[in-house]
Amino acid sequence: MSGPNDNYDPKQVEALSAGVIDGYVADAMTAIAQADSTDELKRARLAHGGDRSPLALANREIGALPHTARKDAGRRVGEARGRVNRAVAERQAVLAEAELSAALVAERVDMTLPVDIAPRGAVHPVTAIIDHMVDVFVALGYEVAEGPELEAEWYNFDVLNLPPDHPSRGEHDTLWIDPIEDAKLLRTQTSPVQAREMLTRDLPLYIISPGKVYRSDEYDATHLPVFHQLEGLVVDKGISMADLRGTLDHFAKAMFGDVATRMRPHFFPFTEPSAEVDLECFACHGESVGNPDRPCRTCRSEGWIEWGGCGVVNPRVLEACGIDSDVYSGFAFGMGIERTVMFRNGAPDIRDFVEGDIRFSRSLLGGAR
Ligand code: DAH
Repeated sequence: MSGPNDNYDPKQVEALSAGVIDGYVADAMTAIAQADSTDELKRARLAHGGDRSPLALANREIGALPHTARKDAGRRVGEARGRVNRAVAERQAVLAEAELSAALVAERVDMTLPVDIAPRGAVHPVTAIIDHMVDVFVALGYEVAEGPELEAEWYNFDVLNLPPDHPSRGEHDTLWIDPIEDAKLLRTQTSPVQAREMLTRDLPLYIISPGKVYRSDEYDATHLPVFHQLEGLVVDKGISMADLRGTLDHFAKAMFGDVATRMRPHFFPFTEPSAEVDLECFACHGESVGNPDRPCRTCRSEGWIEWGGCGVVNPRVLEACGIDSDVYSGFAFGMGIERTVMFRNGAPDIRDFVEGDIRFSRSLLGGAR
């Protein structure tokens, strides 16, 4: 601030001259007009209208003027500050309005969009087909039985007529549980449930048992180390291979519609006689057989695909479970559940069952019910 100015001549107080004040105002107007956000405008307001702005500093000079001159100078500075403040207020209104409109566009919420807070899951195709299989057999009077996945070697092999040195044990790629002396394993088949049921339930027996089985198999398009089987067992008086054939035909029709089945002699230690049950190839319907121009990859041009194993329960198994094989006889069957879904729905790669992609489950749902 300047000292007292006794010989006052306003024109000599440079900061208060009309030309300089107008210059300050012009600078302020330019900065205000150029501000294109409210933040920039705030900076312009502080620079040109704030406490340390040229106009504020000029205002302080007024106090150094003699009384006679203060009124004039005061009015000039006051008017200048008023013009700057009004310009700031007008620009502020324009910029705030523009920023609000931009925010309303950017943050727009479409209230008409459907809400999907928790994405809906889907029933797994294995679960769905098991439900369907259970429905088919419960309608025939069967009961559902379950057994443990951690199984004793005796149930998985010995009682099913597979003693320790039996060669077909080697086909099972068994996963044994430590310590090995405990003779525990992850069941390689659902067949041990047969023995558990024969040992605990009253006769006659009509049961199915769906469940998980384990084998140290490769993980590829046709193998999973953990998959599912459906086991069936009937023990009653006068049961024969003809009953098995009729039951499997009915089951196949319920699963696949009007499809032909056939039985092919095979060997299983727990059934005698044994067979593999085949389905007519759903891809070529037998047309590839003897027709090199139309080879079929699904059945390797054989016209049939293997669905599962079956047979008349071996009397040795009945006896091992305390059942008089002179009075009772039975049949049994077992098939892969994933394979059943794959045949039914034309799913080419078994790995899709464990990849967890919900689109796979959804794509098969319609067909599995
Ligand atoms: N357990 C057999 C397997 O895993 C399938 C099987 C064959 C089950 C014949 C049966 C049967 O009940 O009678 O290969």
